[in-house]
Amino acid sequence: MRAVLRTVLLVPLFVRFAMLLCVAASMSARAAMLDVPTPYIPSTRGNVDEMLRLAGVTPHDVVFDLGSGDGRIVIAAARDYGARGVGIELDAALVRESTENARRAGVGERAEFRHSDIFAADLRAATVVTMYLLTSLVVKLEPKLLAELKPGTRIVAHDYGFAEWKPDRKIQISKTYMLYVVPANVAGAWRIDAPMAKGREFMLDIQQRYQEVRGGVRVQGGFLPAFEAQLSGERLSFVLVEDDVSYRFEGEVRGDMVEGTVRYGVGLKSSEQRWRAQRVQSAQQ
Ligand SMILES: C[S@@+](CC[C@H](N)C(=O)[O-])C[C@H]1O[C@@H](n2cnc3c(N)ncnc32)[C@H](O)[C@@H]1O
Repeated sequence: MRAVLRTVLLVPLFVRFAMLLCVAASMSARAAMLDVPTPYIPSTRGNVDEMLRLAGVTPHDVVFDLGSGDGRIVIAAARDYGARGVGIELDAALVRESTENARRAGVGERAEFRHSDIFAADLRAATVVTMYLLTSLVVKLEPKLLAELKPGTRIVAHDYGFAEWKPDRKIQISKTYMLYVVPANVAGAWRIDAPMAKGREFMLDIQQRYQEVRGGVRVQGGFLPAFEAQLSGERLSFVLVEDDVSYRFEGEVRGDMVEGTVRYGVGLKSSEQRWRAQRVQSAQQ
């Protein structure tokens, strides 16, 4: 009798396990590439922790989870990091469940769930975006994210990242997580006003592909390459070398202006001065 009971109890478990396997298979690498709708498969507690840790969430952040399922990422961002969160979800039943889950977790005030298609949602308020979506959807979302998100916004993708945009950081802890920092647009020609110019016209040309930048300065018919050029959100840095002296430029991009400091010299004899640049010509990224 006991054996029969055990078998009966085991059947639903087995069925559940089989269903889980089917669902997991639907998020396989093959499905990720095909243009199929992203199914509901929740991130585990550990996955959520890794995503929010990689994003470096703080209480000042507004975390948007695109395709928010039962709301667990938004709720964890509010509960564990003191952030505010917004979930965007196509499935109305999951939106209702998320709202109830947030209320039960005591973060109803800081967690909001919108019943919407991601493509119709206004994402401009986000400072952090999380997503666990199939590649086909992630790739289609890229232009919207680049157009709407402010430079410096961190995007964390669980397992499926962008096709061409390389991550700023990629980690593997059981699963794969990719961090992308939305880059400021810096492509074009900039007139630099810096002490090392000594009255000469310094024209900085920057070519850009996502966060990857390269270029250099045209000065009096010559060219100074920009070494170690880096862009992270609005922070631009590069090194110019003239007469065997390295000038380390760092600055914050604000639209068509960059302002910051340039350091040169070594140790106790190093100096720091202000520099700025004005964009005089935009270029294709
Ligand atoms: C793999 S689940 C991830 C859920 C949650 N983000 C997590 O990590 O636990 C993907 C979710 O995205 C939702 N989704 C898929 N396409 C969507 C779209 N175009 N707009 C809004 N939600 C979408 C699905 O309904 C599903 O809940």
